[in-house]
Amino acid sequence: MMNWREYWNGPHPIYVNARHRALHFSLIARDIAALIPSRGAAMLDYGCGEADTAAELAGRCGKLYLFDTADAVRARLAQKHAGDERIMLIDEPGLADVPDASLDLIVVNSVLQYLGEAELVSILDFARTKLKPSGRLALGDVIPTDANAVSDTLALLDFAFKGGFLFAALIGLVRTALSDYRKLRDRLGLTRYTQAQMLALLETHGFKAERAAKNIGHNQGRMLFLAMRDMHSSDVC
Ligand SMILES: C[S@@+](CC[C@H](N)C(=O)[O-])C[C@H]1O[C@@H](n2cnc3c(N)ncnc32)[C@H](O)[C@@H]1O
Repeated sequence: MMNWREYWNGPHPIYVNARHRALHFSLIARDIAALIPSRGAAMLDYGCGEADTAAELAGRCGKLYLFDTADAVRARLAQKHAGDERIMLIDEPGLADVPDASLDLIVVNSVLQYLGEAELVSILDFARTKLKPSGRLALGDVIPTDANAVSDTLALLDFAFKGGFLFAALIGLVRTALSDYRKLRDRLGLTRYTQAQMLALLETHGFKAERAAKNIGHNQGRMLFLAMRDMHSSDVC
């Protein structure tokens, strides 16, 4: 039976058309760029997906690592960014090769809903090792426990109306309702957190964190958490 990792490795109808995809990536690039602290920064986009605006982001920092678990996604990214020395594509074993305490920013956007809490904790352990003391971890598009398919649908329709792809979005919603995404969402669910749960988890794993005023991307019903290593934390579990 398919799991989320396999789902993302295959063809999926997550963007309703090319305009939706372009607007999505340009919006998240704008929001992520605002988190990059300097032109020389080293950042990692963890669970980057198709990362259509990677070149733009790489132009805003010194070095951009792209990581995604899906082989098919990484193969497309490798082809697209071959020869771009600012962009380094890494697979799961390659994560360990990122030098310790070298990253200024790690962004994990719209990924945590597909992971269990144990996998989130291993991301936090990884981030604590790889971030500079001044570095930041951004966990974006985190689904709150009170969100549901209706709130996601309304957020998409609002984005589509403003972006001029409402008709395609309506067709896309029907397609999604009949798709593997819907079946998997019903069977496996999506991992959700309350704000308090996420802040407590970050704190117990060695971070000082806050919820940002705005999420990354179009769905403002979801949450962005910004965290820094807590250099005084002794009881990291
Ligand atoms: C909804 S997409 C988000 C892509 C991108 N971050 C964005 O905001 O557009 C989710 C991505 O997470 C990746 N993913 C799923 N499980 C993962 C894991 N355990 N570690 C890293 N990436 C994962 C999928 O392959 C997929 O590309």
